[in-house]
Amino acid sequence: MSLKNILITGASGLIGTRLTELLLAEGHRVTHLGRNHRSGSAKTFLWDVDKNQFDRHALEGTEVIVHLAGAGVADKPWTDERKWEILKSRTQSTQLLFNELQKGGHQVKTFVSASAIGYYGFENNEKVYSENDTPGNDFLANVVRQWEAEIDRIQELGIRVVKVRIGIVLSEKAGALKEMSKPIKYFAGSPLGSGEQYISWIHLDDIVSIFIKAIQDEKMTGAYNGSGPYPVTNRELTKAIAQTLHKPLFLPAVPAFALKMLLGEMANLVLKGSKVSSEKIQQAGFKFQFDTLEKALADLLTR
Ligand SMILES: NC(=O)c1ccc[n+]([C@@H]2O[C@H](COP(=O)([O-])OP(=O)(O)OC[C@H]3O[C@@H](n4cnc5c(N)ncnc54)[C@H](OP(=O)(O)O)[C@@H]3O)[C@@H](O)[C@H]2O)c1
Repeated sequence: MSLKNILITGASGLIGTRLTELLLAEGHRVTHLGRNHRSGSAKTFLWDVDKNQFDRHALEGTEVIVHLAGAGVADKPWTDERKWEILKSRTQSTQLLFNELQKGGHQVKTFVSASAIGYYGFENNEKVYSENDTPGNDFLANVVRQWEAEIDRIQELGIRVVKVRIGIVLSEKAGALKEMSKPIKYFAGSPLGSGEQYISWIHLDDIVSIFIKAIQDEKMTGAYNGSGPYPVTNRELTKAIAQTLHKPLFLPAVPAFALKMLLGEMANLVLKGSKVSSEKIQQAGFKFQFDTLEKALADLLTR
């Protein structure tokens, strides 16, 4: 394993925080590119995507960029303004990186970017999506398609580009598992909508390990799904969380119309899903530490 100088955008988030910890533990030099200074284990350089500002000192010595920045998809209601923020925080941030890299005078050889399985669209069908499938047509699929188009341009600069289409990341700290566990702990958990929608999930440590493999493995280029080998339905995940927490589930499923009234179009995040294949990343030699839901939940909920 060769030690690298790695710059991470959006590093203060769920994936970036754990990725920083593991890269530093392996002996790499890690710096961050963020919107604010933060005290912590890595020096932060600043950028402002709206103002097109970028501290070029961030590129000094940098060999690898890991691009994770993006406004949280589930953080706020999907008003037109928020939808624009979700899109531009990904496309314009990638354009800004492209423009700065195009100026030259740097040693960046590898660009590993977050993408999302939302690329395929959430259609609630039995199809298993692989990397060669075409993009879907809902709001998130359109965001991810445009984001990936910007990421792909970075290859024109002679830089190796890997796009990790991330699934639903399971962590006790944030995201889907934290939100689903809360009501279950208070005896108010239940499946959502039909409960039959697929959740293509991955343990936080496995997605971070995929990023580390993509940084190191020069054979990897293009898109890889970053979700585990065994997607489950919303009902199965809800039941498994309740079993792991030793809590009963007795309430009926929350009806889809109620969620649509409450969340509008954003309800699709929980009412729809997709079944995504992990074959390509496994063919590349990646071994999941937490392949089954049982192992992942035991690790995350009973530590
Ligand atoms: N977690 C998942 O389940 C999941 C699934 C699919 C795809 N992804 C994608 O993977 C990436 C990382 O995921 P994550 O869960 O670590 O995300 P996260 O916790 O929401 O962190 C994203 C980071 O992006 C930066 N950011 C937020 N709003 C921004 C804006 N308007 N402009 C520029 N930067 C902004 C922030 O970093 P600073 O404050 O340091 O700038 C933030 O900490 C995201 O792009 C996400 O869409 C995640």
